[in-house]
Amino acid sequence: MPDDIGKMHVEKIEFLNTSLAEKGYQLVFEEERLTLQSRQHNFKPLAIDFTAGQVRHRRLYGGGKNQPIARALGLKPGYSPVVYDLTAGLGKDAFVMATLGCQVSLIERSPVIALLLQHGLKLASTFDETQAIVQRMRLIRADSREFLKNLSFDDHPDVIYLDPMYPHRDKSALVKKEMRIFRDLVGNDTDAVDLFQIAVTKASRRLVVKRPKGADFLGGETPAFQVKSKNTRYDCYLPVEKPSQKSI
Ligand SMILES: C[S@@+](CC[C@H](N)C(=O)[O-])C[C@H]1O[C@@H](n2cnc3c(N)ncnc32)[C@H](O)[C@@H]1O
Repeated sequence: MPDDIGKMHVEKIEFLNTSLAEKGYQLVFEEERLTLQSRQHNFKPLAIDFTAGQVRHRRLYGGGKNQPIARALGLKPGYSPVVYDLTAGLGKDAFVMATLGCQVSLIERSPVIALLLQHGLKLASTFDETQAIVQRMRLIRADSREFLKNLSFDDHPDVIYLDPMYPHRDKSALVKKEMRIFRDLVGNDTDAVDLFQIAVTKASRRLVVKRPKGADFLGGETPAFQVKSKNTRYDCYLPVEKPSQKSI
């Protein structure tokens, strides 16, 4: 990393660490890897790594275009939508969508999560197996509500994807750890209904909302259809605007 960029980077981490300290967390940059660490008992440092672990396993064995998320997005041979993931989080869903061939914009408002994501994308761009996938991913640090309000009609994506915080029933250690981090760092996404109401007017083809099995509909709005998997449900809403209205 060139010295001036390296210095800016260290300053940014130090700045974020001042507010993270109150919550018992800190960012640590060592050997070109950024991790989120905590003094809490049993907290294994968290890094975003699209090249290994569960993410790699899902890329290789997740079922490709037959998996429920692919059906929710409406993938067809020869059609890979442009997707805006308005709640990017740790980028796992976005990575799956990019693996399926979608161009994905990841929008994340938490500066800490966004910095972890930026590092995860950079790391994945240096690996042969993931390089082409992350080239289809672009990260935008913003509040998605503001981002959408400034979006011109011609830039409306095919699909908008939402996965706001929800108290998950999946009690696996990994899910519990991720939920704890989201709860501690970003809170409960109490404005999710507001985001949904803006998003539904901005998707050209569909809005997909990820919910845990058995959860209520976001904003009480009944979707046009649902795609279900074991623990997850994708609620699909059809657009207010027609794709044919869009200029080519
Ligand atoms: C449950 S997590 C999403 C997990 C993600 N689908 C994944 O695969 O890792 C929700 C994330 O959305 C972000 N978020 C919620 N509302 C947002 C908004 N209005 N603008 C940008 N990011 C938002 C939160 O900061 C949090 O990181």
